[in-house]
Amino acid sequence: MSDTAEMLDAALAVQANAHAPYSGFRVGAAVRTTSGAIYAGCNVENASFPEGICAEAAAIGAMVAAGDREIAEVLTVADGDDLTTCCGGCRQRIREFATAVTLVHAAGPDGVRRTFTIDELLPESFGPENLS
Ligand code: THU
Repeated sequence: MSDTAEMLDAALAVQANAHAPYSGFRVGAAVRTTSGAIYAGCNVENASFPEGICAEAAAIGAMVAAGDREIAEVLTVADGDDLTTCCGGCRQRIREFATAVTLVHAAGPDGVRRTFTIDELLPESFGPENLS
């Protein structure tokens, strides 16, 4: 099984648990770290709309809670035919834990549709090095 197949399975499993009663848009995300571990998260919306969190943010939270820090790949899965790439805020969240070669996959239930580097999605970005 390739890395992305394992990540897709993990993201699809949690997408089913997404709490998305307001948008109806269920998202699952999986992060694979350079240690090889996979962490998954789904979107969690809130009646106070701005308090909702994205699937990628939830997956990154699980990674950090486990003591893991360096992201090798992220995969986001959503339903429908359109390409769902992670939002601007999540690009910055990924950037915090990215390497120079971190990959970001946009998937549908059928599999990966496009793959980007984090630098393509967030060029000339601001990161931890800027504060050191
Ligand atoms: N959403 C994500 O979880 N990840 C993305 O990459 C794009 C958007 C969620 C946020 C909200 O719960 C719903 O999708 C609609 O915007």
